[in-house]
Amino acid sequence: MQKSCLMLPQGRITPLGRLSRHLGSSAYDGARFFIFVDENTYNNCLGRLVSHVERLQESEFVELPVGEECKSAEVAAQVWQTLLESGADRNSVIVNLGGGCVSDLGGFVASTYMRGIRYVNVPTTLLSMVDASIGGKTALNIGTEKNSVGSFCMPQAVCIDPEFLATLPDEELRSGVVEMLKTLIVGGAIDAMPEGDWHGLITKENICSCANIKTAIVKRDPNDHSVRHILNLGHTFGHAIESYSHTKNKPLAHGLAVGAGMVCALYLSVRKLGLSQDVYDQYRRWIGGVMPLPHYTLRDTEPLLGIMRHDKKNQEGNTLCVLLQDFGAAAIDVQIDDMELRDALLQL
Ligand code: GLY
Repeated sequence: MQKSCLMLPQGRITPLGRLSRHLGSSAYDGARFFIFVDENTYNNCLGRLVSHVERLQESEFVELPVGEECKSAEVAAQVWQTLLESGADRNSVIVNLGGGCVSDLGGFVASTYMRGIRYVNVPTTLLSMVDASIGGKTALNIGTEKNSVGSFCMPQAVCIDPEFLATLPDEELRSGVVEMLKTLIVGGAIDAMPEGDWHGLITKENICSCANIKTAIVKRDPNDHSVRHILNLGHTFGHAIESYSHTKNKPLAHGLAVGAGMVCALYLSVRKLGLSQDVYDQYRRWIGGVMPLPHYTLRDTEPLLGIMRHDKKNQEGNTLCVLLQDFGAAAIDVQIDDMELRDALLQL
C-alpha cells in the first residue's frame, strides 16, 4: 500500500509548514497544482493555505458545488474536462481544500484522470480531519445511493490544521464531534464516556489521536475487508436515519445521523454483547447535549428497515452491524434481525 504523509499540529513545525516543505521537495519539480475548493473554502480557507504554502501561490483553482451535490458523475466529468482544457498532465497534483465531499470528489477525479494523478488532502471540517480525509476512500453518489461508485487511492499527504475550524458553522462541529467520539471509543483512546459539554472534546490532542487511530486501522486493512469496519460503529443505522431524514425534508447532517445511529448500536450492544448499561446511558446523555434525537413510530420503521437492507456492508441479504463490547473492543459483522432493528429504532 502506498503511504500518505500525515501532517499534524504536533511539534515545532506547523502542519501547513510541513506541507510547504513537502510540496517544495524535488518529487514535485515541474508539477502544476490545482486546488479544489467550494464556495465556503474559497472564501474562508484558500487565503490561509496559499499564504503558508509557497508552492501553491501559482496554483489554479477549481470551484465545486457545496456539499453532496459535488459528488456526482456529471460534476466529475466537468472537472475532467476542465483539467484537460487547462493542460493538466500526469505530473499535476490536486489539492483538496474542504470537507469530505470535496476530498471524495477530488480524490475520485485524481484516481481516474489520466489513469491516476497525485493528490493531497487539506481537510477544513472536523469530520474530515478525524475521518474522511484519511484512508484513501474516494466516492461519488449515484442518485440517492451514497458513495456507490469510488476507488481506494491514497493521498500523498493529509495536512490537518485545526485553525481552519475557526470559521466552521456550529452544526458542522457537532457533526464532527460525534465521529470523533466514535473513533476515540473504537480505538480505545478513552475508557469512559466524556463528561461535560461536547465542545470540551474538540482539542488538538483528540484530533491528533483520532487521526493516528484511523491511520493505524487503515494500515492494517486498507481496502476495508475486515478491521476497518469498526469505524462504521453507528453507521448502518446512521446511513438509514440520514437518508430517511432527506425524504422527510428534515435533513440531518451525516455525523448527527451517526450520533443517533450509535444510540441504536449501543442499545443492541447491551442486549447482544453485554456492553454495560451505564455506558449506554452515559452516551445517550452525552449525545442529547449535542442534538435532539429523532423519534420514530412503527410507521417510520418499515422505510428505515428498507434502507438498511440495501446497506453496502450487508452480505447474503443479512443486515450486519458493528456493535461494541467495551471501549476499544468493537465487534464487526454482527447479524441483526428485523425485530431487533425495529426495537432499536423505536427506543430512540
Ligand atoms: N469512514 C470510514 C472509513 O474510512 O473506513
